[in-house]
Amino acid sequence: MIDRDGFLALMRDRYACKRFSAERRVDDAEAAYVLECGRLSPSSFGLEHWHFFAARSASAIANLRKACFDQDAVGTASLVVVIAARRAPAYDPQGPFVASRGSRFPGTLSAFVEDFSGYYDFLRENNMLDHWARSQCYLACANMMTGAVASGIDSCAIEGYDNEMVLESLGLSPCEWETGIVVAFGHAALSESREKIRAPFSEVVTYV
Ligand SMILES: Cc1cc2nc3c(=O)[nH]c(=O)nc-3n(C[C@H](O)[C@H](O)[C@H](O)COP(=O)(O)O)c2cc1C
Repeated sequence: MIDRDGFLALMRDRYACKRFSAERRVDDAEAAYVLECGRLSPSSFGLEHWHFFAARSASAIANLRKACFDQDAVGTASLVVVIAARRAPAYDPQGPFVASRGSRFPGTLSAFVEDFSGYYDFLRENNMLDHWARSQCYLACANMMTGAVASGIDSCAIEGYDNEMVLESLGLSPCEWETGIVVAFGHAALSESREKIRAPFSEVVTYV
């Protein structure tokens, strides 16, 4: 097991890399590892609201670069993951998606549906279903980035994108999917260590 200091050192080492090496590409085993870190992430009610669209080819990455306002971090990456969230209709407690996810858990599907329905009604009545689904993608993103740095892979989370262009480049319908977040991975073009700029602990933490 990794100790606390070791884990915090990893957290300090990760930084938002803006340009990746053209020579040292993320290989297939590294890509599979990063995606597995995403797959293992937790989600509300265990519904796994996401799908991970992993761009590896020059053409798929070039299309995503355009959809991400021509950002270098995307264009120079050798793995770009679009974490897409299913849109609100998927979460109908009586629908097929909830049935397929809910039936995997111990206990009956009807018990799962009954448990989920109260929260679903709250989210629907407050028009929060899409926001809720998209929020889950950030957890997977964070786990993938932390997992990546633990294996010597650099990354950058990308929120600067045009949702419809991202979906179009993947052949996805905006009625069914929303871009949760985009994450670029590679090996940094320059070896650099960046100072972590963070507010002090006492400013951002209050024990209550
Ligand atoms: C949700 C999220 C979205 C981000 N979107 C972008 C982006 O579109 N382009 C970019 O260059 N950096 C982006 N960043 C990187 C942040 O600017 C960076 O993480 C932050 O300044 C802290 O720096 P550090 O990650 O190097 O510690 C994003 C980071 C997060 C967490």
